[in-house]
Amino acid sequence: MSISKPVYVYLQRPDSGEWVTVGRYKAGRPGEGFFKYAPSYIDAGLAWGIDPRNLPFLPGTDLTAPRYQGLHDVLRDACPDAWGQALLRQEHNLPEGGPPLQYLLKASNLDRWGALAVGSSPKPPDAKMNNPGLPQLNDVVEELVALAARRPAIRPNVRARLVRTASVGGARPKATVRGELGQFWLVKPEIATDPANIPLLEHAAQQWGAASGLNFAKTVYHPAERGWSAVRVLRFDRTDRQRHMCVSAASLLQAEYPGLLQTDRWSYPRLAEELRLAGAPVEDRIELFGRMVFNAVCGNDDDHVRNHAIVYDADERRWRLAPAFDVVPNPVETPMRLQMQLSQGRFDITRDAVLTDAHRFGFTGAPEAIAYLDDLLKRITAGFDGAAQWLDHDWKQVLQERLSHQVSILSRGQSTNDRQGV
Ligand SMILES: Nc1ncnc2c1ncn2[C@@H]1O[C@H](COP(=O)(O)OP(=O)(O)OP(=O)(O)O)[C@@H](O)[C@H]1O
Ligand SMILES: [Mg+2]
Repeated sequence: MSISKPVYVYLQRPDSGEWVTVGRYKAGRPGEGFFKYAPSYIDAGLAWGIDPRNLPFLPGTDLTAPRYQGLHDVLRDACPDAWGQALLRQEHNLPEGGPPLQYLLKASNLDRWGALAVGSSPKPPDAKMNNPGLPQLNDVVEELVALAARRPAIRPNVRARLVRTASVGGARPKATVRGELGQFWLVKPEIATDPANIPLLEHAAQQWGAASGLNFAKTVYHPAERGWSAVRVLRFDRTDRQRHMCVSAASLLQAEYPGLLQTDRWSYPRLAEELRLAGAPVEDRIELFGRMVFNAVCGNDDDHVRNHAIVYDADERRWRLAPAFDVVPNPVETPMRLQMQLSQGRFDITRDAVLTDAHRFGFTGAPEAIAYLDDLLKRITAGFDGAAQWLDHDWKQVLQERLSHQVSILSRGQSTNDRQGV
């Protein structure tokens, strides 16, 4: 597909599952791009905006793209990141450092994140999914590990399929497998350069978050069968054949990621406000506050802006905070800071930083925020034992000590907010 031609953007309708052409993207001068909702979409009476922050449904208007060298944020969300980009570069001989648009055009619609697809025809294709099934999980894991290590294919047909469908984001090797009951799972294997069994840590953290009463994506751990373990994570942007619209926190916060590290825009309270503007209920903002605290306690300081998202709920007809994903305790040290601000200008893991902007998460006042925090710290502490069953003695001890340390920092008496109100 030539870059100067229009790129049609398709959407799988949240209500009927039918594919429609939602708009067209056009590149302008270098660094410029325009998106316009399609006349056919407007004429059909459809009005879902594909990104509530950056591409509101404004019929007839050419909407510009201020980031990603002229690619709109939500279209960038539908592109692969480091892992998939490297595969696409190899496969198509693409230059490193090319514009993000090249990955949108080369990545396959088969496995994109969310409910968007792109193509050169004004008419939408029937963008099918084509993922290996669960019985092939060990083959997939083995092939991903070989790919990551730049070793030749073990099973050329599996490799070809993985390369063809590498559209989902993230830096680690991954692939989607289809499970029973129309479920789709992201499979993330251990790799040789990992300082620890990362899939196991990720699984334990996801179990721990859920045991603490937070909404964490379901995971299943696969111990190493052919040398490498893996975690599989239930995809929240798929239910059987239906794809659900998604937007990353990077897009909501208008912060390019990866790229310029605009950490002034990386903020939990700002994200909470974006959730409100997107129409999510107050419980989602409080859930986000809870995840911020959980990340601080478990030591997940890889909580960057592509590790949070919203997903469109067709039944409720509104955007909701997506389940927590990619929560991994730092395997090397106990962090003192998170990547996103806990309150205005503050990245430090302290009770003060947690409570200072609590009102922006929708709490009615200081007493409610304090009560929620104190109760959550108890729930996180109580949830540890179950999750720790997955870990060996040494890791259990590391995380137990971390838990005690971080909880003591975040506990009552450690903040001026306890006395002054939030
Ligand atoms: N459970 C899920 N359902 C739907 N999409 C998901 C899920 N988990 C992750 N994703 C999407 O896939 C991307 C990559 O996944 P993930 O963050 O787990 O991978 P990673 O390679 O470990 O990421 P990173 O680059 O942050 O280390 C996410 O940014 C998100 O867009
Ligand atoms: Mg990630």
